[in-house]
Amino acid sequence: MKVIQEIKALRRELDPFTDREVGLVPTMGYLHRGHMSLVSAAVNENDRSVVSIFVNPTQFAPNEDLDRYPRDMERDCRLLEAAGVDFVFAPDVREIYPSGFATRISQEILGDHLCGRRRPHHFSGVLTVVAKLLGICHPDRVYFGGKDAQQAVMVSRMIRDLNMDVEMRILPIVRDADGLALSSRNQYLNPRERELALALPRALNAAGKRVKAGERDAGALIREIKEGIARVPGVALEYVELVKLDDLQPVSEVDPGNTLVAAAVRVGATRLIDNFIAGE
Ligand code: PAF
Repeated sequence: MKVIQEIKALRRELDPFTDREVGLVPTMGYLHRGHMSLVSAAVNENDRSVVSIFVNPTQFAPNEDLDRYPRDMERDCRLLEAAGVDFVFAPDVREIYPSGFATRISQEILGDHLCGRRRPHHFSGVLTVVAKLLGICHPDRVYFGGKDAQQAVMVSRMIRDLNMDVEMRILPIVRDADGLALSSRNQYLNPRERELALALPRALNAAGKRVKAGERDAGALIREIKEGIARVPGVALEYVELVKLDDLQPVSEVDPGNTLVAAAVRVGATRLIDNFIAGE
């Protein structure tokens, strides 16, 4: 496995004139089993795999956790090497955003709800860096996790809208045995907060069961999730919304397989998100 910091050097390795297929997993590092499920798909489904590790400053607001975002490059590289990855691309900020960098990708409508409403500049930072990584690596396939559902839908729309020649693979959420969705930010939680955080998957799970039992009313499901979270003091609901999967606009009725139920909570200083697709 080669660890590469420079765009030029990575491009030399990924000679576009060969027919060997390339899979890219964009990450911000501090890898967990969720990332590793994407990595193993990328390794298995392509001739060459690239994992990028870049804590992207443009997707953090000034009051967010950019400085304390967890980093452990050595451990990440050990995991990636053991998984059979060919290249780790770990550029520094100046390599990705040289002085004079002036372009940002923005997207209409899809960022209006869910996390986009609460983190207004976040997704333009994500789309911009993902577009750059796709431009740098020219992968045949790019891999995203379903936990960041809004991110996955918005990236997939960018790929479609900008005719980017890449197949997007979105893989299921990976959870701990108790149901908490894996996230690099889980490590901010102390043991008590870690326990409280389970209110989120439990409330979503209860709502999922109601959908399976035939409930279709979005308002009723939102109430159920709000009540589930409110029963656990110490967990503050930021939002819960039911939206159409393709344009992320709110719905009043569940359309099984096409409705995303997504929520965000704060436990202490930590913000956690989770979701499910109703009826799946
Ligand atoms: O999901 C993430 O880790 C980041 O948003 C991504 C896609 C690597 C872009 O910085």
